[in-house]
Amino acid sequence: MAESKTDTKSSNQMWGGRFASGPDAIMEEINASIGFDKKLFAQDIRGSIAHATMLAHQGIISAEDKDKIVHGLNTILSEIESGNFEFSRRLEDIHMNIEARLATLIGPAAGRLHTARSRNDQVALDFRLWVKEELEKTEKMLTGLIAAFLDRAEEHAESVMPGFTHLQTAQPVTFGHHCMAYVEMFGRDRSRVRHAIEHLDESPIGAAALAGTGYPIDRHMTAKALGFREPTRNSIDTVSDRDFAIEFLSIAAITGMHLSRLAEEIVIWSTPQFGFVRLSDAFSTGSSIMPQKKNPDAAELVRAKTGRINGSLVALLTIMKGLPLAYSKDMQEDKEQVFDAAESLELAIAAMTGMVRDMTVNTARMKAAAGSGFSTATDLADWLVREAGLPFRDAHHVTGRAVALAESKGCDLAELPLSDLQAIHSSITDKVYDVLTVEASVASRKSFGGTAPSEVRKQIAFWRARN
Ligand code: ARG
Repeated sequence: MAESKTDTKSSNQMWGGRFASGPDAIMEEINASIGFDKKLFAQDIRGSIAHATMLAHQGIISAEDKDKIVHGLNTILSEIESGNFEFSRRLEDIHMNIEARLATLIGPAAGRLHTARSRNDQVALDFRLWVKEELEKTEKMLTGLIAAFLDRAEEHAESVMPGFTHLQTAQPVTFGHHCMAYVEMFGRDRSRVRHAIEHLDESPIGAAALAGTGYPIDRHMTAKALGFREPTRNSIDTVSDRDFAIEFLSIAAITGMHLSRLAEEIVIWSTPQFGFVRLSDAFSTGSSIMPQKKNPDAAELVRAKTGRINGSLVALLTIMKGLPLAYSKDMQEDKEQVFDAAESLELAIAAMTGMVRDMTVNTARMKAAAGSGFSTATDLADWLVREAGLPFRDAHHVTGRAVALAESKGCDLAELPLSDLQAIHSSITDKVYDVLTVEASVASRKSFGGTAPSEVRKQIAFWRARN
């Protein structure tokens, strides 16, 4: 799609009536948004068709003019879609590029399309439609990511791995349980997306410049035609509101943060030192100098995309802060932030979904790691409370001594002979060994939401019914 050459001689053909000469080249450059808002062409045309149809229905324009307008707009749609449309920077933005082309195609009837509207409600509409579609896409992508985790969780409901706090081995958990933690996170993200769709589901068109219009328009009709629940209720707010874009970016930032935590875990797990997972060739790269390497580049880039997305959120919050009502041109800077964040978010979700589905889980390595680091120490303390009647604090102290002894002997808790354990506390019997294995530890944590395989399976069933 070519950009036409700057023409500084003639004044703007859309609003140039009171301007003697064309804009300075710098003015044109800073003012134009066509370079990025051409992305909104389909929404702009949809909005214009709904508006023209309503104008004719209300008797504000004739049916003939409406037909010409609709036909012309559909022609423009296919011109743009097939790459046969010349975008002009002199015409500033997508709205005026399309309207100017319409005038060329259908003549004076084109001039009637802009009756009872302004670019202020027009851009609010186009952008809202775009963000709504993006949210719907995000919702679907999150559902796909959740499904990937549910499958892995089911497969590994019994696979034991170390659970960490402070990245230090804490207690054994199952890999299935760990996967389900991400299902909860992305499930919350998806419900935020659904709420955001509900919030933005109001049609801006008909707010006009800021005050509404004297023409007998029907905003309920356009709202319905464009798939909105209802029209917005305050014309000033309508043209000055970008909450829908900021909500999208906040959700993208929170989701990006979740994706980045997952990416970080995958980076750690795929090191030879951990060896918990092996990434598929499809989601890793080799090194140009070190032949043995398999790098988690996709995970690292997902981690980095979070920085971009957060930047976009802060940028738009800052653009909007301090703007007096209603529209100000500052708001034109909203789109690039959202477009960039949307692209990053889509890529990041897609990459993580692929990685989660493809990665090979090394259950033997996970199990070995789960048993090291005295991960069943809490189970020993709990046994002393349950079987020997010790207060938990005393049991904690006794267990601490057992851990110190095992550490000095270079062995695990389960490897300490009974005589050693009895020397620390006389009421310990050989029954204690039943709880010192990682499987027993995991199976015992049957509290609601706990890591026992039986509980994990209940949560998988809960989410399957909702996915
Ligand atoms: N390109 C503009 C934007 O993106 C469209 C609205 C222009 N409105 C105006 N009053 N100049 O915000």
